[in-house]
Amino acid sequence: MAKVQQITLVSLAICLSTLLGFAAAANPEEKFIVEGRVYCDTCRVEFETKISKPIKGASVKLECRNITNEKIVSHSQDVVTDEAGGYKIEVKGDHEDEICEVSLVKSPRADCSEPTEVWRKARVVLTKADGVSGIYRFANNLGYMKKEALPECKKVLTEMGYFELQDEIGEEVEGHSTAP
Ligand SMILES: *[C@@H]1O[C@H](CO)[C@@H](O)[C@H](O)[C@H]1NC(C)=O
Repeated sequence: MAKVQQITLVSLAICLSTLLGFAAAANPEEKFIVEGRVYCDTCRVEFETKISKPIKGASVKLECRNITNEKIVSHSQDVVTDEAGGYKIEVKGDHEDEICEVSLVKSPRADCSEPTEVWRKARVVLTKADGVSGIYRFANNLGYMKKEALPECKKVLTEMGYFELQDEIGEEVEGHSTAP
């Protein structure tokens, strides 16, 4: 009799753990929090410098597309950046077979609202299947170009070694000889 009870207990335990395992895999409460920042590219170079400025009140959104047919599978509402240019977007579920990207929607600054090809979108991985754990996912920052580059850009970019890489930077930041 004791033996039978033991067997019953064991099979009950197996049954329960299978049920729980299934519940965890299909957990509708699973979510990710995507974080990133939006900057004003004050030097019009399409990358961050020390004089890039966070933009407060910029709107961004997140979209996930089916990897195969590129149809949009899910998208967030527009989210607005805080004082530090930061945003957080909560996303439900696992998006393993999707390409998810945060993109710029709108800038509140008339003088800094030109989207750039490079800084317009940032890819984020929203699945635990790739071995990355944790619910926080960080997106590369995004930026709008300022209408006119700041005068300090020349100095800042020189410090960064920018002119050594690129002799010609374009009319906006030119105006000084770049010869050593
Ligand atoms: C993506 O699209 C393909 C082809 O239309 C479809 O078979 C697949 O189920 C879709 N995947 C997701 C995650 O929606």
